[in-house]
Amino acid sequence: MKILVTGGTGFIGSHTCVELLDSGYEVVILDNLSNSQRDVVKKIQTITQKTVHFYEGDCCDKQMVEKIFKEHHIDAVIHFAGYKAVGESVCKPLMYYQNNLMSTLTLCEVMNQYECKQLVFSSSATVYGDPEIVPIDETSKLGPTTNPYGTTKLYIEQILRDLYVSDPSWNIALLRYFNPIGAHASGFIGESPNDIPNNLMPYIVKVANKELPQLHVFGNDYDTHDGTGIRDYIHVVDLAKGHICSINNFLLEHVGVEAYNLGTGFGYSVLDVVHTFMKVNDVDVPYVIDERRPGDIASCYAKTEKAYQELGWKAEKNLNDMCKDAWNYVKHFKLQ
Ligand code: NAD
Ligand code: UFG
Repeated sequence: MKILVTGGTGFIGSHTCVELLDSGYEVVILDNLSNSQRDVVKKIQTITQKTVHFYEGDCCDKQMVEKIFKEHHIDAVIHFAGYKAVGESVCKPLMYYQNNLMSTLTLCEVMNQYECKQLVFSSSATVYGDPEIVPIDETSKLGPTTNPYGTTKLYIEQILRDLYVSDPSWNIALLRYFNPIGAHASGFIGESPNDIPNNLMPYIVKVANKELPQLHVFGNDYDTHDGTGIRDYIHVVDLAKGHICSINNFLLEHVGVEAYNLGTGFGYSVLDVVHTFMKVNDVDVPYVIDERRPGDIASCYAKTEKAYQELGWKAEKNLNDMCKDAWNYVKHFKLQ
């Protein structure tokens, strides 16, 4: 079976390509390299010892997407391509609506044209907005979202549901990721933002590596066990495996359109993560307590039973593994 992976050289996409190839799938990547590097293709091939078909191009470019479908018989698509920075989406909403919505619309149009109707979509826990109850299950209320990025995910989920209503032969898995961190154990691929990171783990890593002086902990007055924000951190390799289970499930049954939480079901505070990182890696991460970050919520973690019961998937790696692999990637990356 051949899978088209849009955004396949990105953080989650690259790990998913490795798992797909290791599971015997053929992989075609479409990525415009707006937030990733071309050499990731070589690294995926080094890890798996298998070949990847790579197209540098934009998923909003219909001719480009058609070219891929003309040149390959695509059985299913995993759609990662999109912008993902929450803060940036507040400053540049049009850019986010344009890229995230247009890439999905263009992709679905071409998939329809070529009778390829199996799609796994990268959604996000942000579609739940500020949850009334944790853990969050898939029937929890959606929105209001707290930023344009989250709104793009919510809109796309609705567009895909409408598409299914118009044509029930589609199979669509809406995977709502919680907080992916960590890296592949080989140290070849991981997350390496060029700018000052927005997210917690890449920031911790840069502080540990002495590229930044200290971590700013955004608030210690939340209603949580130590006052800092709680999230459901999930190892990116576990997350990648969730996509393989979704694709496998398409082979087993007609799923229609279904949403699945991909998280661990455990919540850790910012300080839990910092202290675990320091302990397992034997490094120092100096931090200061700062103001709350606007738009942040106190606590967000998943109920994960649906993915286990219907996809046969559950996360296996723990916070120690996530912290070790994130640090291993940085040390390995420096040597490459
Ligand atoms: P990433 O930025 O590392 O990967 C996205 C990839 O898509 C990049 O390689 C980028 O170059 C590419 N891309 C962007 N727009 C494109 C376009 N129009 N055409 C072709 N390629 C394009 O991000 P990631 O962390 O791997 O996230 C993958 C997906 O998962 C995104 O849709 C993101 O919104 C979603 N998601 C991520 C997180 C997270 O915390 N990382 C959480 C929830 C959901
Ligand atoms: N935090 C800090 N200091 C930092 C960065 C983060 O204290 O420098 C705290 C935040 O306040 C929050 C926690 O660490 O309590 C996690 O923050 P992240 O920025 O790492 O992650 P978010 O939960 O805010 O959002 C992430 C992604 C979204 C995605 C969401 C899904 O950025 O794209 O997870 O749950 F949609």
